Amino acid sequence: MSDKNYDLIVIGSGPGGYLAAERAGAKGKKTLIIEKDKRLGGVCLNRGCIPTKALLNSAKIYYSAKNSQQFGITASGVEYDLKKAMEWKAKAVSTLTKGVEYQMKRHNVDVITGVAKFVKRNVISVNNEEYSAGNIIIATGSSPVKLSVPGADNSYVLSSDEILEINNLPNNLTIIGGGVIGIEFASFFSLLGINVTVIEFLPEILTNFDKDISALVRSSFKQCNFITGAKVISVDNNKVCFIKDDKEDSIQTEMVLMAVGRKPNVENLGLEEITIEFDRKGINVNDKMQTNIPNIYAVGDVTGKSLLAHSAYRMGEVAVNNIFGQTDRMRYNAIPWVVYSYPELSGVGLTEDQANKEGRKVKVGTLQMRANGRFIAEHGNEKGICKVIVDSNTNLLLGVTLFGGVNSEIIYGVAAMIEDEFRIKDIKDIIFPHPTVSEIIKDTIWEMN
Ligand code: NAI
Repeated sequence: MSDKNYDLIVIGSGPGGYLAAERAGAKGKKTLIIEKDKRLGGVCLNRGCIPTKALLNSAKIYYSAKNSQQFGITASGVEYDLKKAMEWKAKAVSTLTKGVEYQMKRHNVDVITGVAKFVKRNVISVNNEEYSAGNIIIATGSSPVKLSVPGADNSYVLSSDEILEINNLPNNLTIIGGGVIGIEFASFFSLLGINVTVIEFLPEILTNFDKDISALVRSSFKQCNFITGAKVISVDNNKVCFIKDDKEDSIQTEMVLMAVGRKPNVENLGLEEITIEFDRKGINVNDKMQTNIPNIYAVGDVTGKSLLAHSAYRMGEVAVNNIFGQTDRMRYNAIPWVVYSYPELSGVGLTEDQANKEGRKVKVGTLQMRANGRFIAEHGNEKGICKVIVDSNTNLLLGVTLFGGVNSEIIYGVAAMIEDEFRIKDIKDIIFPHPTVSEIIKDTIWEMN
């Protein structure tokens, strides 16, 4: 095999790409990963999951320091130093991107910095050199969408990438889009005491969750102002103009975050020339993550299937397994997802709305977090809920949603239950540690019959 001939070339080093390269390298396959950014790790490590968690944690600590009198703690002189918080964030990002570099070395994966483009179905050009491979994985991710309204290019209108690099906190912020990204940033800025307004086009925020849950989240963020069912028409002179109930209105703002969705990075890859099928949502793939060209696979956000880092990890593994002779398939039924606001919202499986749309007969159980010992001990009367969806005919667990406190570390347990097709009885038999918030899942099940 010549120097420039590989078993596998991976384009893009986000979670889907780097894990695929790592797994192929671990199998002893000659692997090349190509990344256009200076640093490996993609959006998740550089501009998404990790930097936002570093900043959100700093905001939570600040908020706790200022609001812990009920726990017997009074602190004075509490201040938020954005520069220091940004330094902390940068350190976390740098540690983790170096970790990915190390994993590439450890698994003998070659790394090239440059923009990759298909020349043929098995040939990629980068930095004016050509490289060939038996199989290629496209893992180029997604980018924030900007609304095409007048004023969207003003310097104070930022994307989620740009807002992670600000030098000064605004006095107030308007967020366009009440989806996952909008709500996470709304939480961050409002914990810091900044006046936040979220403008959402649809009648409710967080439309992937059941309406009762989204409404509960909205009512819990008292520090935040929500304008729902409003269509933004322009941004001008620090004013966001919108139409609500057929009337034009506006809000004065220092900074705007545009969080209205993401689009797949399919441009300038030469996909049209080699006739790879894709649409507005992303590259078409089957459940082996294979495109219409049998030796080309696509994983992660660029497929438009599930824009989550952990989905990308699994898609990367599925692609590599199939490429190297081990049949595997991607399933989407038990992928947990988390809104890292504070309080957190997480879920896995079907929501009540989704189950109804599928025409399933379901039993629904809900229990307030106030029924949970650990939650009361730590959060008192804060709002929170556990919602469980079970198939009425079979008693099969279909889905769980949790809101309240910090629950992102719990939800994987439910994913395992759904993946293994647990029924009500199986969950009743599990011994949960006490006192933990996780007990709320079993207690909700007991409340159901
Ligand atoms: P999103 O699709 O979740 O939410 C965008 C929101 O903007 C929607 O509610 C939509 O109705 C609203 N919108 C669209 N046009 C509008 C307009 N003209 N005026 C007002 N509102 C408008 O997109 P988001 O939040 O940008 O996230 C992108 C993707 O990244 C999602 O698929 C999300 O799941 C994923 N993601 C996941 C994270 C997580 O799991 N923690 C974190 C960050 C992103």
